[in-house]
Amino acid sequence: MNINAPRGTQDILPGSSEKWQFVERQLADLCRRYHYKEIRTPIFEHTELFQRGVGDSTDIVQKEMYTFEDRGGRSVTLRPEGTASVVRSYVQNKVYGLPNQPTKYFYMGPMFRYERPQQGRQRQFIQFGIEALGSDDPAIDAEVLSLALNSYRELGLQSLKLVLNSLGDKESREAHRQALIRHFDPYRDELCSDCQVRLDQNPLRVLDCKKDRDHPAMETAPSILEYLNDYSRDYFDKVKEYLDVMGIQYVIDPNLVRGLDYYNHTAFEIMSEAEGFGAITTLSGGGRYTGLVQEVGGPETSGIGFAMSIERLLMALEAEGIELPLDDGLDCYMIAMGEEADKVAVRLTDQLRGAGVQVDKDYLGKKMKGQFKTADRLNSRYVLVLGAEELGNQVINVKEMASGEQKEISLDAIIDYMKEQLAGGE
Ligand code: HAM
Repeated sequence: MNINAPRGTQDILPGSSEKWQFVERQLADLCRRYHYKEIRTPIFEHTELFQRGVGDSTDIVQKEMYTFEDRGGRSVTLRPEGTASVVRSYVQNKVYGLPNQPTKYFYMGPMFRYERPQQGRQRQFIQFGIEALGSDDPAIDAEVLSLALNSYRELGLQSLKLVLNSLGDKESREAHRQALIRHFDPYRDELCSDCQVRLDQNPLRVLDCKKDRDHPAMETAPSILEYLNDYSRDYFDKVKEYLDVMGIQYVIDPNLVRGLDYYNHTAFEIMSEAEGFGAITTLSGGGRYTGLVQEVGGPETSGIGFAMSIERLLMALEAEGIELPLDDGLDCYMIAMGEEADKVAVRLTDQLRGAGVQVDKDYLGKKMKGQFKTADRLNSRYVLVLGAEELGNQVINVKEMASGEQKEISLDAIIDYMKEQLAGGE
């Protein structure tokens, strides 16, 4: 019986993993420049964290979590997103009490959602995200937006759209909530069963419903922007001003509702406008949250962040035809003929690696010609040949593949010689 990987998961094989490494390095460097430091949290958490953090009425909690009982009878969940875990860690480690606030984190790792797999939607995906906790300065919102956009732009992506909204503070949202209930209540029976529940629990979610998208009441639904109180409107204006100062363009969409419950004030998504990107055009999303730290047992603290999946980032690179500058060659291939020479080759290979040179050799007992072929296929810059004759003369033959130039170097000097050659050629 063949056993395949579970639906919605994928193997990332050499040929592709180099792209992942490149992108991950680039993102980590971007975070270094914005002064966000890496945090690593567990892949599973107590189920309650996501029920309280992400929100009981969200699709994620209702339908998509990988939840199971461990052998101790506790309910645990594979994390569907990173924010709740980061906030849990921030509270548990009392990071809010440390000097040097705000606390700025980034994270990268697998997240799990039981969704219907399609292009850009998987059951295990890798998220890169950031969270800035402990400041409600609108300039941080703008900083997060700038980092989010630059994580795409610095890789060469151009067909991007930043969609922005404000969900206001508690008071504004409550006023909007009442307006939404008043608006949708007359059509209650015409809405899908999920939306009938949402109307009571969290009417904002109705605006995000895929089934009721075309209901006429959707278009005339009251906009949150009409219900922002002075503080919320002022906050949103300042975020926009900072974006203008940085020359960041955006589109305001009062219907942008995020799929998680913890947001207030700034909410945003970055979309790909590249042709051929696919049906799902959202590259990443995020926003500000205020109640979350308290929900997890910490002091009232505000945070803002965003997350993207690397899968969708790579899809966007492909859609825009961007080739990453990957180096998939090999520095050196060691060829040895004969048992004695092979022993010396094993030693030299080991020493070269210790000296920082990338080296590989034959392990299949191939003939000389076959080994040369392998070196060629591996795109090796140098081939080192050690036969009985070379061994007798205590030298090794070094061939530079591009020029075909060959030299005999003494065995004593070969490590330094190769180090020099490769350093000079960079
Ligand atoms: P989210 O919108 O649920 O937000 O997910 C953020 C991003 O994760 C999406 O835009 C998408 O790139 C990726 N993503 C989500 N689900 C899938 C999937 N099934 N397959 C592939 N990629 C997926 C959050 O997760 C929030 N924690 C973001 C945030 C951080 N808000 C504040 N801080």
